[in-house]
Amino acid sequence: MTVRHFLTLRDLSSDELGYVIQRAIELKTMLRNGQVHEPFRGKTLGMVFEKSSTRTRVSFEVGMNQFGGSSIFLSPRDTQLGRGEPIEDSARVLSRMVDAVMIRTFAHSTVETFAAHSSVPVINALTDDFHPCQLLADIQTFVEHRGAIRGKRVVWVGDGNNMCNSYINAARQFDFELVICAPEGFDPRADLVAENSDRVRLERDPKAAVQNAHLVVTDVWASMGQEEEQAQREKAFRDYQVSPALMDLADKEALFMHCLPAHRGEEISHDMLDDPRSVVWDEAENRLHAQKALLEFLL
Ligand code: CP
Ligand code: NVA
Repeated sequence: MTVRHFLTLRDLSSDELGYVIQRAIELKTMLRNGQVHEPFRGKTLGMVFEKSSTRTRVSFEVGMNQFGGSSIFLSPRDTQLGRGEPIEDSARVLSRMVDAVMIRTFAHSTVETFAAHSSVPVINALTDDFHPCQLLADIQTFVEHRGAIRGKRVVWVGDGNNMCNSYINAARQFDFELVICAPEGFDPRADLVAENSDRVRLERDPKAAVQNAHLVVTDVWASMGQEEEQAQREKAFRDYQVSPALMDLADKEALFMHCLPAHRGEEISHDMLDDPRSVVWDEAENRLHAQKALLEFLL
């Protein structure tokens, strides 16, 4: 059987993604009911982190534990990856020992190169371009609160970053409308917007953008690796903060999501996460269930 990777949401078909979401909901119920499910006894996940993480690391580690398997945290600081051993060689070696690999890195091409030389499934745990695992959790959360996301209107407010690019892929795969509201100069990848112009459009004005939104999503203004642009970005994004007042202009059933970590007073107002429309804590928890479903699918 050919090895399946999960580098972007496009690596699974719409049906397969739908299956993973349903399975995530099922695994969550099983866990709540105390049902032991250990399909991964003796299996190991290699976890390569070139950037910081709280949710991603903990959710993958806990998920592997709950499945009866184990995980190894690999930081470039303590491995030969940080001393220049080629990605291709690292992929060949690691995949001879572990059963799946998860990578968080900078250039998206790094996970592509790794996957091309890996004999086991490779999961993108965030690159500069995409964060597909987060999207599984986001879609699961929407489905749990509101039912199917197909045909709904999702509005992205803020930076056209890795999360935003993944929302474009999600709009295509889960068949919803996506309005992207970023200041000029901070749009998502133009090729993705063009390719999905039947369901994705840009809108500069946040108040106009959120009209009739069923889901409003934002993320930090400066992503990991962009720390030096913080001050300049704060200026550019000043009018793009999501607040309860902005949410009032959306559909009355609208939900709010943020992949976290959040910067109160920047991309969100101080009270946004505590607003009843915010489902960020469920969203964070669902990283665990959605990735367990993904691992089960890939393995
Ligand atoms: N949302 C997310 O990926 O969080 P971490 O950076 O903490 O993993
Ligand atoms: N866009 C953010 C997401 C963090 C989970 C970043 O890349 O830093």
